Amino acid sequence: MSKLWAGRTAGETNQIADDFNSSIRFDCRMYREDIKGSMAHAAMLGAKNIISKSDADAIIDGLQTILDDLESGALEIDPTAEDIHMFVEQVLTERIGETGKRLHTARSRNDQVALDLRMYLRAEVGEIVALTKALITALADQAEAHKADILPGYTHLQRAQPVTFGHHLMAYAMMLLRDVDRMQDALIRMNVSPIGCCALAGTTYDTDRIMEAEALGFDAVALNSLDGVSDRDFCVELLSAWSILMMHLSRLSEELILWSSWEFQFISLSDDFTTGSSIMPQKKNPDMAELCRGKTGRVYGDLMALLTTLKGLPLAYNKDMQEDKEAVFDAVDTVKMCLKVFAPMIETMTVKSDNMLRAAQTGFINATDLADYLVKKGMPFRSAYKISGALVAACIQKGVTLEELPLEAYKAQSELFDADLYDEINLAACAEKRSSLGGTSVQSVENQIAWVRNQLDA
Ligand code: ARG
Repeated sequence: MSKLWAGRTAGETNQIADDFNSSIRFDCRMYREDIKGSMAHAAMLGAKNIISKSDADAIIDGLQTILDDLESGALEIDPTAEDIHMFVEQVLTERIGETGKRLHTARSRNDQVALDLRMYLRAEVGEIVALTKALITALADQAEAHKADILPGYTHLQRAQPVTFGHHLMAYAMMLLRDVDRMQDALIRMNVSPIGCCALAGTTYDTDRIMEAEALGFDAVALNSLDGVSDRDFCVELLSAWSILMMHLSRLSEELILWSSWEFQFISLSDDFTTGSSIMPQKKNPDMAELCRGKTGRVYGDLMALLTTLKGLPLAYNKDMQEDKEAVFDAVDTVKMCLKVFAPMIETMTVKSDNMLRAAQTGFINATDLADYLVKKGMPFRSAYKISGALVAACIQKGVTLEELPLEAYKAQSELFDADLYDEINLAACAEKRSSLGGTSVQSVENQIAWVRNQLDA
């Protein structure tokens, strides 16, 4: 097929080169944005008398039929077209004749593709934000149901201090809320219209870029045409935000995987979100969580791919930039899939509170509280720390817990010990006493849940 850009050259290129050059197989997903953008462009050209009003109307009607037919399946995207922009223009001209050739006045594919991508991502970010919020809600609901359940909190994956399960889950809710923030923040800078920047330098026609931007729901217009067509920092920002989001999902995935192992048995994932083994009949594998962990690497890769593509590119448009879309689309698809599976996986998991508590009962995670007991009775913390450590060593030797150690053994270490020490080292009490702002107590977790829910509504 001879190209729309046949002119200087015959427009006949080598078949292999054509396939190599073509982006239709991936940019076809922006057909809606491309058509809506072209409609707004035609309307502006008509309003500014750059083309006649009747031509503008004919173009807009023609574009509408293309959109309708693509949506209904009556029109199929031609896989041999160069890209979605060329395809739409070609079909338009087939349908309405010569008038269709007026659409590309005061425009270039360079500002067109930048426009389409911003519009496409704007919609996708909206969806990803909604999916992230659904996951945050699932976490907050589980946190509420298990706000008083004690489990060992870990540092270095060694049992450290008792925490409530609600507190642990809300840590992820906080992280994901910042991910929402990052996406919404990127949206502010992204929602700036590049259309009208044209190929690179602007145009000699008396266009109205603001009219076009407003018609397409943009908050502002790019104020430097070279910048408008050249930068993809909005893609990099989103890929960064999604990389961070995936990193959070990956950490939570890792915990779900650990917690559902026989070694922990803190939770059980619903059968719907696990798989079996083809050979080992007893297996219940946390594949969904593992895949989310694994796919995190893909999204990091997408970010690195785009940063590397952009590095060293001279202004303005370079064909290298066609590579932006596959990275961005892959990340969009991956993040959406992971979030879609994650929220119901959290909603349906069974929390085995008894096992969590049992784990909390060994590992001397109340040793800090034991030291604090002495501090409250006047002993300097460093000395109390030492005595508490000696008592832990004694327990290990005898094979008992701090709760089981008799009062005489305590008194042998310090006269400050009394029977009330046992209340002080009770695990639930240890968690409850951590009522400092952001701490693990039930009240503190309730406050966190309320705050997060409030942010979600805002
Ligand atoms: N398919 C191209 C892309 O995705 C569209 C822009 C092409 N512009 C050009 N001057 N060749 O980047």
